[in-house]
Amino acid sequence: MKVLITGGVGFIGSNFIRHVRREHPDWQITNLDKLTYAGNLENLKDIEEGPGYKFVRGDIADRELVDGLLGQGFDVLVNFAAESHVDRSILDASPFIETNVKGTQVLLEGARQHRVERFVQVSTDEVYGSVDSGACAEGSPMAPNSPYSASKAAADLLCRAYFKTHGLPVVVTRCTNNLGPYQFPEKLIPLVITNALEDKSVPVYGDGLNVRDWIYVLDHCRALDTVIQKGKAGEVYNIGSGNEKTNLDIIHKLLELLDKPASLIQFVSDRPAHDRRYALDCAWISSELGWKPAYSFDKSLSATVDWYLANESWWRPIKSGEYGRYYEEMYGKR
Ligand code: NAD
Ligand code: DAU
Repeated sequence: MKVLITGGVGFIGSNFIRHVRREHPDWQITNLDKLTYAGNLENLKDIEEGPGYKFVRGDIADRELVDGLLGQGFDVLVNFAAESHVDRSILDASPFIETNVKGTQVLLEGARQHRVERFVQVSTDEVYGSVDSGACAEGSPMAPNSPYSASKAAADLLCRAYFKTHGLPVVVTRCTNNLGPYQFPEKLIPLVITNALEDKSVPVYGDGLNVRDWIYVLDHCRALDTVIQKGKAGEVYNIGSGNEKTNLDIIHKLLELLDKPASLIQFVSDRPAHDRRYALDCAWISSELGWKPAYSFDKSLSATVDWYLANESWWRPIKSGEYGRYYEEMYGKR
């Protein structure tokens, strides 16, 4: 099977490529990635180029490049490529529209022209917006609140339109918050771990009682693998583990695991339009495709902490380089 993965250098994409190499060594992967600040080639340094894996540096919004690449003939396209950080979308929404909306449309059009047999759009639970009680099923209305989630919702709707209008076999997945190795340290869990290891304060937005549902990244990869093989064209599948936690719960657990004091916690001003709670009903992927999460939250959290402890050479250069300067500047402004 020939698979085009976009954004495969990032956090989830790189874990997915490693998953595919382990589970399907006969699949031929091409990884198209622009290498933005979040695309660190160190994430894939154990994956060798060869007949089973090829890396192409480029932008999913580049029509000519995408057309040329898809002209080589792919069975499956999995679109991970995105601007993925909510805080950045508040500072400047334009790259989110360019990549998440226009880039997805360019991929959909290329996949249509070159008759890709399966297009998997990796989306997010954030498209449903904040959920006061209960949980969102796939038919729940979308109500995105940040420029990031609005751009992802727009991409989901383009996927729907390409299925309805052109019969392109598109499947959309909407996953909850991932944790695990290789997550860029601007996101809550790696930020808390790495700041605590540097004895720096840990910023908590608002009252810290916002709730997210956390899934181990390898469970997300297993679910995507299942969707590639068994998902039905035109469907949406929610993916989650049912591990609802407040941010403060997680931060306290992390500080305990790292043997660091709670005095590192610093309450800071809230994220604008900060969604209070995300919650997904994942009965559909379980009953239709037989996927269930395999990793418990506590084990995933300790495995993640262990990975960051063992891989300081991965995150220290990120924090002391260009991102470190960006972070200091942004955090200084809060
Ligand atoms: P990430 O920011 O770690 O990685 C994004 C990757 O996309 C990077 O390698 C980057 O270089 C690449 N990229 C960005 N713009 C590009 C462009 N124009 N062309 C080609 N490549 C480009 O993101 P992530 O956390 O791994 O998320 C991957 C996908 O999963 C995203 O679509 C995101 O919306 C979705 N998602 C993430 C989570 C989560 O918890 N992280 C949860 C649900 C869904
Ligand atoms: O729900 C899926 C989404 O999860 C993905 O679609 C996004 O790509 C991914 O970034 C993530 O979005 P969140 O906004 O939930 O993740 P983040 O790690 O930025 O924040 C998690 C929670 O922690 C959120 O309530 C905001 C809070 N937070 C975050 C940071 C970075 C803090 O309190 N302090 C912080 O410094």
